Amino acid sequence: MRAIINTEYGPPEVVKLMYVDKPSPKDNEVLIKVYATTVNRTDCGFRSAEYFIIRFFSGLFKPKNKTLGNEFAGEIEAIGKDVTLFKTGDKVFGYNDIKFGAHAEYMTMAQNDAITTMPANLTYEEAAPITEGGHYALCNIRAAKIKSGQKILINGATGAIGSAAVQLVKYFGAEVTAVCDTKNVELVKSLGANVVIDYTKQDFTKISQSFDVVFDAVGKSSFGQCKPLLNKSGIYMSTELGKNAENIFLAHTTPLFGGKKVLFPLPTISMEDVVFLKELVETDKYKPVIDRRYTLEQIIEAYKFVETGQKTGNVVITFT
Ligand SMILES: NC(=O)c1ccc[n+]([C@@H]2O[C@H](COP(=O)([O-])OP(=O)(O)OC[C@H]3O[C@@H](n4cnc5c(N)ncnc54)[C@H](OP(=O)(O)O)[C@@H]3O)[C@@H](O)[C@H]2O)c1
Repeated sequence: MRAIINTEYGPPEVVKLMYVDKPSPKDNEVLIKVYATTVNRTDCGFRSAEYFIIRFFSGLFKPKNKTLGNEFAGEIEAIGKDVTLFKTGDKVFGYNDIKFGAHAEYMTMAQNDAITTMPANLTYEEAAPITEGGHYALCNIRAAKIKSGQKILINGATGAIGSAAVQLVKYFGAEVTAVCDTKNVELVKSLGANVVIDYTKQDFTKISQSFDVVFDAVGKSSFGQCKPLLNKSGIYMSTELGKNAENIFLAHTTPLFGGKKVLFPLPTISMEDVVFLKELVETDKYKPVIDRRYTLEQIIEAYKFVETGQKTGNVVITFT
């Protein structure tokens, strides 16, 4: 089968299209023929190992997972003898950032992992990008216990995480002030933002309003800058570690004192989360934003584009 192989950490060029053996499902696994996947910031992080901490999960000197790709949509081609939740021919989608493997024509998933049947109304290309940004957004929303009536500011509302966060925060009933570039103001309004701040015209950290939560979904700000925007028990969250990894330190210390605090939840995803996101998609509460599409052969170009930090939503890889 065709697979994208990376045997070392480094720039986009370390990935190579190769022919390798098709995997076989273990007793509790399904074999998926992948029809669509994505290149996202999680793939970039594991491919480059730019943050050294990645190597503790992914191999100190060389990547343990030779094929990246965490989001997938495809069809089950075979099942292990203990599989009861899925059958051959099921159309499925999901997420795997432990084993990865979706940048290949076939991958395996344990039946109890973050996988479920596809939303009825979606194509493979539309289903593949549901989970990465969606589950990061969901983890932060749950950590901050965002609820109806609250005021939430989301910076970077056009990233995979930010565009999911706008829609999910609205689903949980809170009011969204979203920060984005001029070209995406209308898109972000269409996702449900109540107020949009164009960052080319206004510095959101200088506005004189207060919020229950400031979620920086592109990690461009700091707690110090955003503190004046928080109400007295307000929460600051960021997708980046911050200067000298300060967000980890602040997440351990600020909750001890009461008042304004930083949260930095560790992302997790389960089958229940994937089912939850699927239900939101089926009821038109959540729709992943798709920017560009590339073929598997063009994956280096896809990586280069994702690493500009300018994608709007998600970048999808199709298999031709
Ligand atoms: N290390 C990891 O494993 C990992 C995994 C997932 C996510 N993350 C981090 O999470 C963050 C979000 O990732 P993502 O995939 O959702 O998005 P992304 O690829 O970082 O998306 C960037 C989006 O943010 C907007 N943006 C860029 N600069 C901005 C600014 N100063 N203010 C407001 N918006 C700005 C861009 O729009 P314009 O071009 O129009 O400005 C673009 O739409 C990134 O920082 C990423 O590194 C890390």
